[in-house]
Amino acid sequence: MNNFVQYTPTEVVFGRGTEKQAGAEVKKWGGTKVLIVFGGGSARRSGLLDRVEESLAQEGISYQEFGGVKPNPRLAFAEEGVHKALAMGADLILAVGGGSAIDTAKAIAHGTANPEHALWDIWTGKVPLTKSLSVGAVLTIPAAGSEMSDSAVLTNEAIGKKAGINTPFNRCKFAIMNPELASTLPPYQIACGVTDIMMHTMERYFIPDSHCEMTDEIAEGLLRTVIRNGKKVLENPADYDAMAEVMWCGSLSHNNLTECGRGKDFSVHKLGHALSARYDVAHGASLAAVWGSWAKYQYEEEEVIWRFARFAQKVWNVEESTQHKMAVEGIEKTVVFFESLGMPVNLRGLGIEPSDEDLRALALDATMKDTVKLSRIRGLGAQEVYEIYQMAK
Ligand code: NZQ
Ligand code: ZN
Repeated sequence: MNNFVQYTPTEVVFGRGTEKQAGAEVKKWGGTKVLIVFGGGSARRSGLLDRVEESLAQEGISYQEFGGVKPNPRLAFAEEGVHKALAMGADLILAVGGGSAIDTAKAIAHGTANPEHALWDIWTGKVPLTKSLSVGAVLTIPAAGSEMSDSAVLTNEAIGKKAGINTPFNRCKFAIMNPELASTLPPYQIACGVTDIMMHTMERYFIPDSHCEMTDEIAEGLLRTVIRNGKKVLENPADYDAMAEVMWCGSLSHNNLTECGRGKDFSVHKLGHALSARYDVAHGASLAAVWGSWAKYQYEEEEVIWRFARFAQKVWNVEESTQHKMAVEGIEKTVVFFESLGMPVNLRGLGIEPSDEDLRALALDATMKDTVKLSRIRGLGAQEVYEIYQMAK
């Protein structure tokens, strides 16, 4: 087990009706003027926004709305939010929604606290981030895990790039999680969410020479739980207990708990982000479309095949005569599960038909023009990533 630091400072307020505590939470974390960031309308239609605003008003907290965040949230929209937050003198940014609203809120917080710098310069590390505003979240979809993560992802539409920033300033002060709020989700978004939660766990699981028994058991338990309950919520999004399990899995999958002692990989995410940047496809779907190909490309490496075999046994109850057969069977079962959720398992299923030239361009996007090697298993440069995209075609 490698040395590690585990620090997960977000206060979680979990359960039925907890959105009514939004005002009290904002007050507790020092907010007096709040910018409420939300998406395309689901939070308003469900009445959630009204309840959150009522709760803020009860605590005497002033607020303004900033709605219209789109999935795969855009840099330019976050910049607009920064102007609004500065104009109103916001001291806390409250996201009401999913990963896209929360990531936009994080970006607005960073931009508002550093108005002298371009947001993209902060995002790309050109300007080190040393301060930000407080961010809170009222979560409406179990998926991205942004409510507890140290990460945020934006698309710079001007240059066609989707990129994340990891910093302790991305940690929400509090996350309000009421599984009831997710009961209005359409099946496709539920499936994308379940896929993303699995992926956050698996991107921390298939790590070479990784001996962390406790962390493995947590990850495997998480995967079994989200698979079992993911099927249930797809059939019935109003199944409170199942949605609660999925929602809790979503947060634990991405708050770094499942990387303790070994770190992470996140190469599949890089492949997915390149697809989302060019084709604006849903994040979870972009991952499902390439994971099977990525796994088949990687699993035979000596330092990792035993992990694929262990995964097959612990997550899918596979019993086979050889490590190799087990690994293959585990990959197959995972791909079949994604299909059963209605997720694409190749690029055609994602609704795109990129040419060879397009695949080369995607591979360059994913590898920062072939300047970085993705993955801790086999270093994946542009050529290897191109080959994986080819397999996924
Ligand atoms: O915009 P509204 O109208 O709210 O509709 C949203 C959106 O269309 C809808 N939705 C959300 N809650 C709903 C609902 N519809 C009905 N009822 C509800 N209760 O769902 C759609 C997707 O929302 P979005 O916020 O985009 O989903 P998700 O949470 O999957 O976030 C995806 C984004 O997060 C990034 C992804 O790359 C993507 O941009 N990620 C962020 C991470 C992080 N910050 O740690 C990590 C992830 O790996 C991921 O990269
Ligand atoms: Zn993800």
